Amino acid sequence: MNIHVNYDDLIPNNVDLSNDPKLKRALEKWHPGYINWWKDMGPEGFQTADVYLRTAVSVDPKGWAKFGYVKMPEYRWGILLAPQVEDRTVPFGEHKGELAWQDVPGEYRAMLRRLIVIQGDTEPASVEQQRYLGKTAPSLYDMRNLFQVNVEEGRHLWAMVYLLQRYFGRDGREEAEGLLARRSGDADNPRMLGAFNEKTPDWLSFFMFTFFTDRDGKMQLESLAQSGFDPLSRTTRFMLTEEAHHMFVGESGIARTIERTCEVMKANGIDDPHDKERIRALGVIDLPTIQKKLNLHYSLSLDLFGSEVSTNAANAFNAGLKGRYQETKIEDDHMLRDVTYPVLELKDGKFVTVDEPALAALNGRLRDDYSADCQKGVTRWNKVIEKAGVNFELKLSHPAFHRYIGGFTNVYASPTGELMDKAAWEKRKGEWLPNTDDMDFIYHLMQPEYGIGKYANWISPPKVGIDNKPGDFEYVKLA
Ligand SMILES: [Fe+2]
Ligand SMILES: [Fe+2]
Repeated sequence: MNIHVNYDDLIPNNVDLSNDPKLKRALEKWHPGYINWWKDMGPEGFQTADVYLRTAVSVDPKGWAKFGYVKMPEYRWGILLAPQVEDRTVPFGEHKGELAWQDVPGEYRAMLRRLIVIQGDTEPASVEQQRYLGKTAPSLYDMRNLFQVNVEEGRHLWAMVYLLQRYFGRDGREEAEGLLARRSGDADNPRMLGAFNEKTPDWLSFFMFTFFTDRDGKMQLESLAQSGFDPLSRTTRFMLTEEAHHMFVGESGIARTIERTCEVMKANGIDDPHDKERIRALGVIDLPTIQKKLNLHYSLSLDLFGSEVSTNAANAFNAGLKGRYQETKIEDDHMLRDVTYPVLELKDGKFVTVDEPALAALNGRLRDDYSADCQKGVTRWNKVIEKAGVNFELKLSHPAFHRYIGGFTNVYASPTGELMDKAAWEKRKGEWLPNTDDMDFIYHLMQPEYGIGKYANWISPPKVGIDNKPGDFEYVKLA
């Protein structure tokens, strides 16, 4: 079993790259373009800083990472696959029970390539979206977490590029180039999915993004980890190990923001969470504004699941390429013949639950699993508010609110699911989504705090340091 990683090669790997000269050459050819992309589109202004980062050195769950100071362009982005499970079989679909494929099944080549490219495209996109945030970091601790997420998204791109170059020949090499050519938000050559072309202009957005959008990533990776194409399963399984930290950054970042707001409210005798003027004057973010950011990032992330009812999803499942969340733990036939799944739809002006064929409703199901996972984090945030004695509750917006993909496109609903016409919605959207005033306030609040062990006024320090480091640890040595 290849648990340990070969760090002597230019490209650290546990896929025995030195015995595959053709692939090694292809990846080494792609490498300079990647480094150029990182220098152009990676964290701006911090490429020469020494950052205390973890690097994957093994895929052993008991100790896969080592920490140390690294200049980001010198980070060892490697190709790491979780260990092969012996005699693994395809867990679902028409090929259920057959030995998992070690090579691409010819008939599914195009579908599989598309799944890998779409996943791959999100990885560099988020690095691009987050590239200016170092300049307004609320602490060196947070800055380090941002850069950790960034380098690992870079590694995830490597992971997908490995699959493309190893298994898809010339087409794969072209796709690998395309992944370096598209740019988040670019008018001519944008990233493939909507949420990955949005701006991440401030740290509240960053935390919401890592909570909501990286969690979409987790759901997608979880369903790809079920794949009958074994190399994809092994690659995504290891990516999930890293992904957990990204969601921790988001959840704890929002929790610390909330905690600080409540603390300052209490210290100044403010009971009304809607007393925006007074709360903002104290240099913290009022809870209703946090709710608006939540509405924005949650609704954008819901769109990433695609149409609730989709033949593409059914085909990928039938083919054994993309399963359900925790497929192997679900107790059914894993074929989904003649079964239904309840999908929320709008019929004759009312929200109703319709029993759709379960195969077609796979995106809807994954989105529901996602929402349930999000709700757990929101509940924990509400505990922070409750503990502080503030009367306010954060809520996930209604699935029909602010949607551009799926059955609720062109539906005008409030975050609580109240239907209205377009004009009424447009008039009120500033109550539900960050408006210019909110964005201006947050923008001006985001002043960098680079002092060792210091934190910007709007956010509480973390409970524990990264790698158990003490509060005065210098997570980033600025050059
Ligand atoms: Fe990722
Ligand atoms: Fe991530």
